[in-house]
Amino acid sequence: MKLDLLGSRRRTHYCGHLRPSHAGQKVFLAGWVARRRDLGSIIFLDLRDHTGVTQVVCRPEISAEAHHKAEDVRAEFVVGVEGEVVARTPDTVNPQIATGEVEVLAHRLLILNEAKTPPFPLDDEGRTSEETRLRYRYVDLRRARLQHHLRLRHRAAMAVREHLAGHGFVEIETPFLTRSTPEGARDYLVPSRVHRGHFYALPQSPQLFKQILMIAGFDRYFQIVRCFRDEDLRADRQPEFTQIDIEMAFPIREELFNIVEELIEKLFALVEVRVQRPFLRLPYGAAMERYGSDKPDTRFGLEWKLLTCPPELAEKLQLAALKALRVPKEAGMSRAQLDKLQELARTAGADWFSYAKVGQEALQSPLSKLSGDDVLQRLAGQVEARAGDLVLFLALKNSDTSDGGPPLPALRRLDEASGEIRLELARKLELLNSKTWNFLWVTDFPMFEYDPAEKRFAAMHHPFTSPREEDFDKLEFDPATVRARAYDLVLNGSEIGGGSIRIHRGDIQQRVFRVLGLTPEKARERFGFFLDALEYGTPPHGGIALGWDRLIALMCGESNIREVIAFPKTASAVDLMCDAPSSVEPEQLRELGLRLVE
Ligand code: AMO
Repeated sequence: MKLDLLGSRRRTHYCGHLRPSHAGQKVFLAGWVARRRDLGSIIFLDLRDHTGVTQVVCRPEISAEAHHKAEDVRAEFVVGVEGEVVARTPDTVNPQIATGEVEVLAHRLLILNEAKTPPFPLDDEGRTSEETRLRYRYVDLRRARLQHHLRLRHRAAMAVREHLAGHGFVEIETPFLTRSTPEGARDYLVPSRVHRGHFYALPQSPQLFKQILMIAGFDRYFQIVRCFRDEDLRADRQPEFTQIDIEMAFPIREELFNIVEELIEKLFALVEVRVQRPFLRLPYGAAMERYGSDKPDTRFGLEWKLLTCPPELAEKLQLAALKALRVPKEAGMSRAQLDKLQELARTAGADWFSYAKVGQEALQSPLSKLSGDDVLQRLAGQVEARAGDLVLFLALKNSDTSDGGPPLPALRRLDEASGEIRLELARKLELLNSKTWNFLWVTDFPMFEYDPAEKRFAAMHHPFTSPREEDFDKLEFDPATVRARAYDLVLNGSEIGGGSIRIHRGDIQQRVFRVLGLTPEKARERFGFFLDALEYGTPPHGGIALGWDRLIALMCGESNIREVIAFPKTASAVDLMCDAPSSVEPEQLRELGLRLVE
């Protein structure tokens, strides 16, 4: 096909901008052909650019050449149209599109480029496999939905810069080729050619650099920064993702919360959501007990309660801890559904499940025979159950708390099981309202969590988080009860940010490393540069990082962060479009001093 040249022609308008007020004007539009309808004597082209669609009409009596060329045009061809805007007759107005009251009569049609038949129609919403969409991402990204998301992301980034700069934060770039900073995942390594056998690590976050910037006197830092983590992927995780990374010297937690809340308020205003402030604060312990999660979805009630177990029942069943949940007006829940919940409880880590249905007169429960109605009534009373309610019970047995370490991990299993049941119920009872936006700060995290498999403590946030000052003395003797000055920002059950007030004293940092099983030699080997920096006048400091992709996805009403990332990777960390990762030439490996082993 002979292609036309654009020459020096400039677009006069974008396709989505034409209105009846433009009628009579000569315009030049350019874009992609979304659809062609050939009625013989008249050919319609829906011309699309990033602003929308305009209907172009090719009639032989207006331009035989344009009409003739339009016969060859196919979907996704790139064309330019010179023509006149005309008002449509009332019966042909299309209220579905913003330009539906007008159309452009083509005087001249330029075919600027052909296109192969697209791998999927752009209006297929939901029917094309994600694999195909990602392989042909350049076509996929032409959809209005994805255009909207990435443009919103851009506007949101502008708002972040404006807001934080307004509060005195300075945007500073930190290196990608660096040493590993642990955030709990595996590192992506980059071999050095010059220093054979040595590797850079791509940063899991700029954590240590931002702390060093505080030591260096920058006072307030931020960065919209890519982070790299080699971890198991889910809908809300990517191997490379973006953080709004923030750090401030001489921090007052409330001031930081305020700056972040204000930012969130401005961001959600972009999608016309009014955010309720101040955000709720919930200590970690209460979140785990009531919601069974450290990122509770508080859009619905269904709160668990830790019960005082009547001794006769505790003894008979060997119960170590018992929780109950009142599900209002669900006494009619079927046996099959209850069996499903029981199975979920079991796989999620609780080892005892039961229930009671509260009737007008009596309770109906598999527990009746075992405990007697009196005990059951008292249990139901603890959660204020009323006639028509269902009460679920979940427990840990004695043996489960004795895995050698502190009892925390076992209790956590019980809590997590209760959290999964809560979410399952919310889905089943359709309590997840997509128009509600519940932000909350989860605070007072434990400093450490015991890993029974490894038989040691790990940092719950990261090892640079400060313990509460009043808990310093417990670091060596009772680490399980040390509380951290850490906080997470949660939105509708998603963790959208996390941060802490940091350790700014070298001695405390060393003591924390020791609890984590890092000998002074090992700590020096891994973080020597940072331990050195801490000795040169480190101000108290603290900060936070917001998960940018997650936040934007929520703003866009998407459950998968891939929908707000231009070129995301699949669940198995593959870029299908450019086929990465890929093998490399033997010569490249030789240069790096690397050899592959089977
Ligand atoms: P954290 O590890 O909690 O903290 O990360 C901060 C936020 O980043 C988001 N996030 C992710 N998003 C997409 N894909 C991933 N793989 C992924 N991992 C994390 C989450 C999370 O809340 N340096 C600390 C911050 C600090 O202490 O200031 C850090 O990185 O929304």
